[in-house]
Amino acid sequence: MTIAAEPGAPATNRYLIPNAAEGAGERLRLLAEIFDPGSKDAIRRAGICEGRSCWEVGAGTGSIARWMAEEVGPRGRVLATDLDPRFLQPLAGPTLEVLRHDVVADATPTEGFDIVHTRLLLFHLTERELVLDRLIAALKPGGWLVVEDFDCLSTIPDATANPFETPLQSVAALREFFARSGLDLRIGRRLTGMLRARGLADVRGEGRMFMWQDGTIFSRFQRLTLEQAREGMTRAGLVRPQQLDCDLEAMELAFLAPSPVLWSAIGRRPAS
Ligand SMILES: C[S@@+](CC[C@H](N)C(=O)[O-])C[C@H]1O[C@@H](n2cnc3c(N)ncnc32)[C@H](O)[C@@H]1O
Repeated sequence: MTIAAEPGAPATNRYLIPNAAEGAGERLRLLAEIFDPGSKDAIRRAGICEGRSCWEVGAGTGSIARWMAEEVGPRGRVLATDLDPRFLQPLAGPTLEVLRHDVVADATPTEGFDIVHTRLLLFHLTERELVLDRLIAALKPGGWLVVEDFDCLSTIPDATANPFETPLQSVAALREFFARSGLDLRIGRRLTGMLRARGLADVRGEGRMFMWQDGTIFSRFQRLTLEQAREGMTRAGLVRPQQLDCDLEAMELAFLAPSPVLWSAIGRRPAS
């Protein structure tokens, strides 16, 4: 299958923490370990079963795409796409097709899927509204969209709620770095409304969050994110390198903070 460029679409590559960066594979693996169980539940609610066709968009390490391929079996089909599919390529097989595909600049697959899933992709795209329209357009009538993303603002550390919560300057700088780049830090919380506004049926939403603590996979994930954004944040003067080093150390020694909320929103494209 080939996917041509969308006529007149901008060639984008503005993803701020690219898969080519050092530590990116480990960061994405931790992300999957933390959030895959809840994502699988959301995709089950969308009716994944033998013979279904699925599109996993911005697939990262492909842990969800691989699981989808097991669920749909040999009579089903999974397309896993990413701007940089370096971690996906080893997973390609008879049921699982892997493609390099920029969801902003390249044409949307037209065959019609039973399920389209994406996690932590729209957060990173300034073209989030356009991309959401395209994901819906890729569904068969009656097909389900499962879209998951962070709300990073509703759960920032608050010592009046819990004196042990640790507000770190570098984490605030990371939020500012994303916001200045035009990203929507609240998109997760808005997803259910965005699906309703587009006329999807049976829309439901659910949020998941954890208390992130020193020395756990959560602090490792957060550390790797900060490391990857280090250059951009320090160049923009949002945090001093010494402060960043100090915060990275604190994350291993004494750190407690609520995670962002990962919201899952699901909805069905009306049959007619
Ligand atoms: C935060 S990672 C999430 C990966 C995976 N969905 C997960 O939750 O484990 C974002 C992924 O989206 C991909 N991505 C970023 N911009 C993209 C674009 N314009 N088109 C397709 N994929 C994109 C990145 O390469 C990366 O693999």
